[in-house]
Amino acid sequence: MGKGIFLSKAVAVTCVVAAIGAAATIIALSVVFAQEKSKNEALSSSTASPNTIPPVSTTPSTPKEPWDHYRLPHSLAPVSYNVTLWPRLKPDANGLYIFTGHSVVVFRCVKETDLIIIHSNKLNLTKFEGHLAKLTGLNGATAPGLKTSWLEIPTQFLVLQLNSPLQAGSSYELFTDFVGELADDLGGFYRSEYLEDGEKKVVATTQMQPTDARKAFPCFDEPAMKAVFHMTLIHPPETVALSNSISYDPVNVTRDGHSLFQTAFEPTKIMSTYLLAFVVCEFTFTTTNTTEEVLIRIWARRKAIEEGHGNYALEKTGPILKFFEHYYNSSYPLKKSDQIALPDFSAGAMENWGLITYRETALLYNPGVSSNGDKEWVATVISHELAHMWFGNLVTTRWWNDLWLNEGFATYVSYLGADYAEPNWNMKDLIVLNEVIGVMGVDALVSSHPLSSKEEDVMRPEQISELFDSITYSKGGSVLRMLSEFLTEDVFSRGLQTYLKEFQYSNAVYTDLWKHLQMAVAESSIVLPHSVEVIMNRWILQMGFPVVTIDTKTGNISQKHFLLNPDSVVNRPSEFNYEWFVPVTWINTGGAEQSYWLLDKEATNINMSLGANEWLVANINMTGFYRVNYDTENWESLLAKLSTKHQDIPVINRAQLIDDAFNLARAKMVSTTLALRTTKFLDKEVEYMPWETARRNLNYFFLMFDRSEVYGPMQAYLKKQVTPLFNHFKELTVNWTKIPESHTDQYNQVNAISMACSTGVEGCKELTTGWFREWMKNPSLNKISPNLKYTVYCSAIAAGGVDEWDFAWSMFKNATIASEADKLMSALACTKQPWLLNRYLEYCLDPAKIRKQDATSTIITIASNAIGQPLAWDFVRAKWNHIFNDYGGGSFSFGGLINGLTKRFASEFDLKQLKDFKEDNAGQFGSATAALEQALERTEANMQWMAVNKDEVLNWFNSETSPL
Ligand SMILES: *[C@@H]1O[C@H](CO)[C@@H](O)[C@H](O)[C@H]1NC(C)=O
Ligand SMILES: *[C@@H]1O[C@H](CO)[C@@H](O)[C@H](O)[C@H]1NC(C)=O
Ligand SMILES: *[C@@H]1O[C@H](CO)[C@@H](O)[C@H](O)[C@H]1NC(C)=O
Ligand SMILES: *[C@@H]1O[C@H](CO)[C@@H](O)[C@H](O)[C@H]1NC(C)=O
Ligand SMILES: [Zn+2]
Repeated sequence: MGKGIFLSKAVAVTCVVAAIGAAATIIALSVVFAQEKSKNEALSSSTASPNTIPPVSTTPSTPKEPWDHYRLPHSLAPVSYNVTLWPRLKPDANGLYIFTGHSVVVFRCVKETDLIIIHSNKLNLTKFEGHLAKLTGLNGATAPGLKTSWLEIPTQFLVLQLNSPLQAGSSYELFTDFVGELADDLGGFYRSEYLEDGEKKVVATTQMQPTDARKAFPCFDEPAMKAVFHMTLIHPPETVALSNSISYDPVNVTRDGHSLFQTAFEPTKIMSTYLLAFVVCEFTFTTTNTTEEVLIRIWARRKAIEEGHGNYALEKTGPILKFFEHYYNSSYPLKKSDQIALPDFSAGAMENWGLITYRETALLYNPGVSSNGDKEWVATVISHELAHMWFGNLVTTRWWNDLWLNEGFATYVSYLGADYAEPNWNMKDLIVLNEVIGVMGVDALVSSHPLSSKEEDVMRPEQISELFDSITYSKGGSVLRMLSEFLTEDVFSRGLQTYLKEFQYSNAVYTDLWKHLQMAVAESSIVLPHSVEVIMNRWILQMGFPVVTIDTKTGNISQKHFLLNPDSVVNRPSEFNYEWFVPVTWINTGGAEQSYWLLDKEATNINMSLGANEWLVANINMTGFYRVNYDTENWESLLAKLSTKHQDIPVINRAQLIDDAFNLARAKMVSTTLALRTTKFLDKEVEYMPWETARRNLNYFFLMFDRSEVYGPMQAYLKKQVTPLFNHFKELTVNWTKIPESHTDQYNQVNAISMACSTGVEGCKELTTGWFREWMKNPSLNKISPNLKYTVYCSAIAAGGVDEWDFAWSMFKNATIASEADKLMSALACTKQPWLLNRYLEYCLDPAKIRKQDATSTIITIASNAIGQPLAWDFVRAKWNHIFNDYGGGSFSFGGLINGLTKRFASEFDLKQLKDFKEDNAGQFGSATAALEQALERTEANMQWMAVNKDEVLNWFNSETSPL
């Protein structure tokens, strides 16, 4: 599945200093809330479903019968399916949207059995002579009679018991006829809706991964049960039908008195069920008019295509496909590549083979309105999904426990593909910010988990869904990047190429990839201290990562499991004792690069080739998944270098030094003062990556101190640091009239303006307020540069009063583009007027004003404002019953709400309030229970941190800003 299904981005990019943290957070939040929506709707739709489905028992008894196991038996293997589906785009007499269909599956009997077990979920199956399916023998085989058949609800099976066994080696076909609900639950065959010219349009579409193909038709719904699919869709003549392969011309049919189209599709390649897709819609498409071998089409709502929002995706798809054909040394396996933008979609995107489905924001790009971040999102998501066309689709991992390989790989190479499509964006650097640094925060907690799971630990659909997290995507991507770097990209891609060749149209496990990489190593001049498998085992079979300490005085290098909280206790045992084989690299004063494989806890007397007063910086370009600490002298030399000629240290390592220092300080391995000192050179720094890491790390200081006496000196320091950056961009953009050319400069311009405005740099507020006023004067003409919109809105609303707020509110209500509405919705929380914040809080519980799906995210945004936080906390406490009951107690966003409301908690008084809240509402927290416990724990940790660090931090900021 596409990126963005998990939360880590929302967590990593905590937008807190009110003005900061625009697009990424908004995207991540909206993804989270779409998931929420889907969960709630899944709940309500199952009660409205045509089948009455008893709730799935949460405490399964020990499995006894084959149908009590969650995995299919190995006795039958599917060969092909012939599936016809007819979705109804209008509700029936009961107001229900349904689909009907029938399916034939041809399967081979591998091992004699008198049981047929096949997945089927939420389908109402027609009975034939009292049974739920019809069985026929093929090629002379005689089909045994059916003894009994039933639906096994907890394991989602259709079970047929036979009077006599099926014969090994014989083939049979099973016919089913069924009705399902075309619900708006974002899973299986589902319904999405949108308005066009005031008219409601319904789209029938699919999301099968991981376990919902069984909701569309009975099938052997496991990734290794590959087969050929012959799809046919019946649909109204004004609609188009799409599926994985190319369609034949539709033919006219009459059903129930309706004149309809019947569209059949060419047989698919041999493929897994979770990669199937079918769509019926009134969309149009844009395509290249060249005679390329592969047909590339971008599909979306008619308006979006007419306005050219699909053009960017179209322009980039061809080059990215070419890049991967070259990288994999394998031509694109299909005749066509359709990509479609859906108004309702749960993940970021889904790599269905030949018909990739997207959220609109992940495929459509509107140059006048979307920011460069929006554009980058489109390029990387397309690249991620196209990478799967080979890795994942052509070769599929055998079971979901290897999901990390599938998703980690696509995450890593999506940056290579995007870099090829947009060579000036520094995409290969940005992976460090977007994936590596972000997930290190998660992986440094004792609650983390290893990348790889055992097959038997991932059985139930919920267990499979849980795997879609930031460890799987971002850590998976980070360790594969590390592997590719120490093997070299050339050797890595060679191994990959033979792996794809051997396992095409089939399945593999992660060790198969290691074998092929090892073969490529053997043919190269690369020398490794151990096999690929032995090295990688330490990175994928145990959680966490090391901090490598380099003592330049003694030449000693040592490693230790890095834990953000040094007092936390690791309960999860590791067969490798939390030691790693670490590819340590460093660059020294003269720019020479060196490397050393750290294979033990400690290595001594390494020659680091350093003279007196020379420095080294390790983990070049942060290609290794580890943090680095140094002896004091080396830290001092590095700080000196940063303050004199920071360009001598590679830009990614300047960001890394800041991020490592702040994290080491949290772990009590270096002083907080040292961490703060890594930000001193920023007054001369103009690059995005160092600024962005500093901004993210200083967020915590703002959270802790923005209501204390530290706030003033801290603001003064940041103002001093950011003023040159603000002036730099003023010059670069010729008085803010031009857009910076470089992608990362565009990002850093946003940082410059938001930090300058929030710290009161002269000229900043006037600038943003001026732009905003101009827009207020002429509401139909918004000339604010798309990249800057959120920052400008936020800063102008923060500086303004009720007029600015009301104007932004009316623009929010009038916005037709989702990303624009989201920017305004967040910016409205930036006001400093308590009454406006309180009124906005009230709006959050009025669905006519703020959609239910956005209520909790908006309350969280208000709480991220220092003035809004106590108001939001009071508001939520006062209305807890109402919120809890009307906004779904079982829903995940409550955890996010508690988390967002209590981030700043750091005092005895905060702790008491939290405890009282817990007591007063005991049993009323649902899924927020864990978040509440975490909030209590975090509040105590914050209190401790404040107690230890407050004076030190205050003194440091004072000394840095005092006129002496
Ligand atoms: C199919 O129906 C359409 C009207 O929906 C008609 O224009 C067309 O001629 C018909 N095609 C055939 C082959 O009957
Ligand atoms: C580090 O990254 C930069 C791009 O930021 C690149 O130019 C340089 O070659 C990389 N260095 C190494 C040793 O890979
Ligand atoms: C920028 O604007 C200021 C006034 O706002 C003006 O004095 C200055 O000349 C302008 N500079 C350029 C390069 O246009
Ligand atoms: C509201 O939206 C409509 C349609 O997009 C537009 O024509 C109109 O000018 C907008 N109103 C204002 C006040 O911007
Ligand atoms: Zn993916």
